[in-house]
Amino acid sequence: MSHNFSKDDLVEILKSSSTKLFESADRIRKEYKGDFVHLRGLIEFTNICKCNCLYCGLRKDNKNVQRYRLSEKQILDCVKNAVKNKINTVVLQGGEDEFFTSDKIASLIKKIKKYDIAVTLSIGERSFEEFKAFKKAGADRYLLRIETTDKELYKSLHPKASYENRVNCLYNLKSLGFEVGTGCIVGLPNQSIESLAEDIIFFKEIDADMVGIGPFISHPDTPLKDYTKNNFDLSLRVMALIRLLMPDINIPATSAMESVQPNGRIIALKSGANVIMPNMTDVNYRKNYEIYPGKICINDSAEKCALCIKSKIESIGRKISETKGFRTDNT
Ligand code: SAM
Ligand code: SF4
Ligand code: FES
Repeated sequence: MSHNFSKDDLVEILKSSSTKLFESADRIRKEYKGDFVHLRGLIEFTNICKCNCLYCGLRKDNKNVQRYRLSEKQILDCVKNAVKNKINTVVLQGGEDEFFTSDKIASLIKKIKKYDIAVTLSIGERSFEEFKAFKKAGADRYLLRIETTDKELYKSLHPKASYENRVNCLYNLKSLGFEVGTGCIVGLPNQSIESLAEDIIFFKEIDADMVGIGPFISHPDTPLKDYTKNNFDLSLRVMALIRLLMPDINIPATSAMESVQPNGRIIALKSGANVIMPNMTDVNYRKNYEIYPGKICINDSAEKCALCIKSKIESIGRKISETKGFRTDNT
């Protein structure tokens, strides 16, 4: 049974400390999604970004980052590693890097699709025409977090960016037939519980196919360096509520959750999540994709992450899905 909550209900649940929410979310996950966990191999292919998001370690003004951009061959090697480890989706993630024109991305997608796996892109805001070219080349999904639906907060965190454009991108992606993933950061400075409730309502309104929730983690080389607080519990609460409201969508147990809480991904899998994104990035580059400090797996190989996560999933009685993990794939 799915649930319907008013904004006031959501605020009340977010403020409470009862653990019943997590049990209900786990029950709904089992009823609608079964025991299968979908793996998405994350390939962090460029850390070069023209944006200046106040929270992110990859922001343009951070000069303490060794910047990199993987070659097509290096990216395809990561893809082959994912395939070898029986991972049926790869997520190409990166900063907003203008070197990767839509032609370059489309050509990459076509080469990856030859492996018969699903391709997700997470490369920020692009024009309708570019999204269209990616879809035509064979991309299946697109991840673009709204980050926060509080317009004033959004403006203060994203110099020169437009909230309206980000929302438009999500609607454009939907209209082009992508499976659309979005989400928010929880615990941002000046973010209210009411605005988190609005975020949840927004995810339902746009009928997101996937929603990823990550705790805000303060990066020492950003303007938000002084806002240190552990946001794990509140993130888990937001995630579990999303499962109650959107029972059939895909919800990842995010790496950020594990970065702030030991075993955070397993706790999330037991509180409504059904997806994990093991890191498939070449180990020589991982440490430079430091969006926040304390990121997990920065010294581990793709094989190690794939094996490690599979054994953790099986240790709690869940199974690895062999499908491409679309919203309708429950096996
Ligand atoms: N550049 C693309 C974009 O912004 O959509 C994709 C890459 S970006 C690094 C992926 C996600 O990292 C963002 O959507 C944001 O939610 C998350 N992120 C960045 N800095 C963070 C921080 N300090 N704490 C938690 N999450 C963060
Ligand atoms: Fe760039 Fe994405 Fe980081 Fe913003 S969150 S600075 S767009 S990599
Ligand atoms: Fe990377 Fe466990 S998932 S080492």
